Amino acid sequence: MSSLEQIKGINSRQIKLLQENGVSSAEALAMSPSGVISEIDGLGDKTAKKLIWNARNALGMTEFVPAEDIYENTEYITTGSSELNRIFGGGLSTGKLTEVFGPFKSGKTNLAHTLAVTVQLTKKEGGLGAAVAYIDSENTFSREKIKRIAKRFGLDSKKVLAQIFHARIYSSDHQEQMIGKAETLCKTRNVRLIVVDSLMALMRAEYIGIGMLARRQAVLNNMIHALSRVAETYNCAILLTNQVATKMVGMFSSDDAIGGNIVGHGCHFRVMFKTKGFSSNNSLKRRAVIVDAPDLPPEECEFFITSVGIADTETSEMPNVKGLDFEVEEIFEDDIEAEEESIKSNEEPEELTLLDVKGIGEGTANNLEEQNITTIEALLKANPEVLASRMSGVSVKKVIEWQTNAQKLV
Ligand SMILES: Nc1ncnc2c1ncn2[C@@H]1O[C@H](COP(=O)(O)OP(=O)(O)O)[C@@H](O)[C@H]1O
Ligand SMILES: [Mg+2]
Repeated sequence: MSSLEQIKGINSRQIKLLQENGVSSAEALAMSPSGVISEIDGLGDKTAKKLIWNARNALGMTEFVPAEDIYENTEYITTGSSELNRIFGGGLSTGKLTEVFGPFKSGKTNLAHTLAVTVQLTKKEGGLGAAVAYIDSENTFSREKIKRIAKRFGLDSKKVLAQIFHARIYSSDHQEQMIGKAETLCKTRNVRLIVVDSLMALMRAEYIGIGMLARRQAVLNNMIHALSRVAETYNCAILLTNQVATKMVGMFSSDDAIGGNIVGHGCHFRVMFKTKGFSSNNSLKRRAVIVDAPDLPPEECEFFITSVGIADTETSEMPNVKGLDFEVEEIFEDDIEAEEESIKSNEEPEELTLLDVKGIGEGTANNLEEQNITTIEALLKANPEVLASRMSGVSVKKVIEWQTNAQKLV
């Protein structure tokens, strides 16, 4: 990020005015429309244009560049499901707006929670080692859910919560205001993901009827443009969730995202989440469809909603993905609370059992018992090949992983 001081011809009064209005770097100024800057009290149209031009000049934005020199720095945040990552082209992209739309219960808020945690993982683990701004207009943010997801990824839940800057939103102008504030967090608090869950909920309630449509679209337009600019300026990922309205097309009905063209054209990636089409009504299986993306095939995949966020499978362990090894049924809130209590009260640690080994749940512990392995010591002594051959569905790699995790406890 380049400072405003570097811009030719700028004085300290102008720097102060810009900063007060949330424009805190040369990049932010260079990417602003002149109309927005000239509206700042005390700047004026001419000065605004001059400063923007000089900022663009300083950043090399006033020349065409041969395509071979274009610098691409897209990074990806893992969604918690390798299938979703695959159809997203690697995960949630930085520098772009991604809209996920779908009906009630389709998993949008679960995805938002999962990403709020995974963005904090290191780059090697699929994150950006960064914080998140969470704009919550439906009041569905859950700290408990975050704690469980943090545990799944082996992160400290307190630290994870400290890196989620949450704003509960009460009206659409409040939402617009907090989107502006989120930009400041990108600069000062290493925020690299902004979640808006959901984009349209409040507007839909506030702007009712066709007469209000133009005004609603203008507000929406401002939000989308502000977010696009933040995405590019700070190479930040943006997740917008959106509801759907059912549209009748002749005899058929189809679900369409609300918000119309402004949202549709403003977002680089549009993904639809579906609940329908699965045999069991209470299944937590979901489908995702890439509806529109500049450079992705129109692919689909399945994923699951679990108590620990978005995943590839309903309950089982996740092979070959580092940091994703868990058993859903083991992770309950009581568990986390009990654990925190025990840390607080500083009790003598109890003797460790197989259940304390990461990756081993009750079922696995029982199966190990059948092989006469009842203690951590016994697990460490076992020959991985022999043990794996005796337990169905268990690979040598898995046994070695248990042993590695067990080793950490002794
Ligand atoms: N702890 C949990 N374990 C499994 N599924 C859950 C859990 N909590 C919520 N769900 C499921 O997640 C779905 C809601 O997902 P959500 O992400 O809130 O949807 P949306 O935001 O699209 O409305 C519900 O079907 C609910 O059953
Ligand atoms: Mg939701």
